[in-house]
Amino acid sequence: MAIRLGSPYFRTGADAQQSGLLDSYGRRATDMRLSLTDKCNLRCTYCMPAEGLQWLQKDQVLSREEIVRLVGIGVDLLGIRELRLTGGEPLVRADLVDIIADIRARHPELPVSLTTNGLGLDKKAQRLKDAGLTRINVSMDSLHPDTFAQLTRRPFLDRVLRGIEAAAAVGLGLVKINAVLMRGINDHEAPDLLEWAVSRGFELRFIEQMPLDADHGWTRDGMITAAEIRDRLSERFLLTPDPRNRDGAPAERWEVRRPEAPDVVLGTVGIIASVTEPFCSDCRRTRVTAEGKIMSCLFSREETDLRDLLRSGADDDAIAQRWQEAMWAKPKAHGMGHTGLGAPDFVQPDRSMSAIGG
Ligand code: 5AD
Ligand code: SF4
Repeated sequence: MAIRLGSPYFRTGADAQQSGLLDSYGRRATDMRLSLTDKCNLRCTYCMPAEGLQWLQKDQVLSREEIVRLVGIGVDLLGIRELRLTGGEPLVRADLVDIIADIRARHPELPVSLTTNGLGLDKKAQRLKDAGLTRINVSMDSLHPDTFAQLTRRPFLDRVLRGIEAAAAVGLGLVKINAVLMRGINDHEAPDLLEWAVSRGFELRFIEQMPLDADHGWTRDGMITAAEIRDRLSERFLLTPDPRNRDGAPAERWEVRRPEAPDVVLGTVGIIASVTEPFCSDCRRTRVTAEGKIMSCLFSREETDLRDLLRSGADDDAIAQRWQEAMWAKPKAHGMGHTGLGAPDFVQPDRSMSAIGG
């Protein structure tokens, strides 16, 4: 049982760097997930409705300068050590390469990764690499064009595959592939997806479907659990726990071998079991939405606006302090797992994944 800390004393300047983004359960957020846009050019069924969402107006979204300033405050004042750019689909932002270059110029050591659906990545991979992007995660749930189109409501599998190849070709670090399995649609593809990923040197990560779809179609019984994913993969592969320290990472990693050749490690696979094996007690993430709101958790119903401070002439210390206050209130856990949706302690957030930032 976590002990709640007493009331916070928010510090500014050099002292803020020491206390960082601490919450009342003693966790410290060092991993910043920053959404660059709520827009997307796919309509994944577990995320968006077919008709899309009401997009934010341009002036509601943080500008390049505001983004770079916020990252600076996070890194220089609040102990952020890692940045992930998300969306929506970050590649739809015309100034993405400039944003990355600006961040890289100010923070040469900061790992900066990008989560993308891969559309248009083939044309931008080299520029992203040159701007200083460290690594990339591409979402891809199926190797079959029809299944891909059913899941994303768009027939673009070949374009996504081209994007993945381009990212690997320009040397954008270890390419990670995110896949969500949906029962009766692509769940049978788990071993094929892994076969494909290890043969190309990519790290595949399966993400349990979470109740973050705008259609509210998630059910605890319908989702594919981490245990099922391991069972399916074990029909073809031998999985053993990766000896490397998990170190706050959401994915539980497994080494992959073939039962008939157990001496050869083919690669690793990650399983992100947010629902059935939650890792909230070790969470290190702080999220910023495209319109500049801090969300201390994916499932938080509280949002703390930083955009009004950014636009009203507040100094960095004042912004840092509001960010600290938001994170201090981070909930202990999301509560969606054991009891499931409909239980009194869990309410699905109003925002879909695309409107939070994955
Ligand atoms: N459950 C699990 N993962 C999701 N993603 C989007 N919506 C959901 C959901 N409801 C994934 C995307 C992407 C990452 C940012 O989050 O597939 O890989
Ligand atoms: Fe777009 Fe990602 Fe949502 Fe799919 S999951 S609709 S790619 S934001």
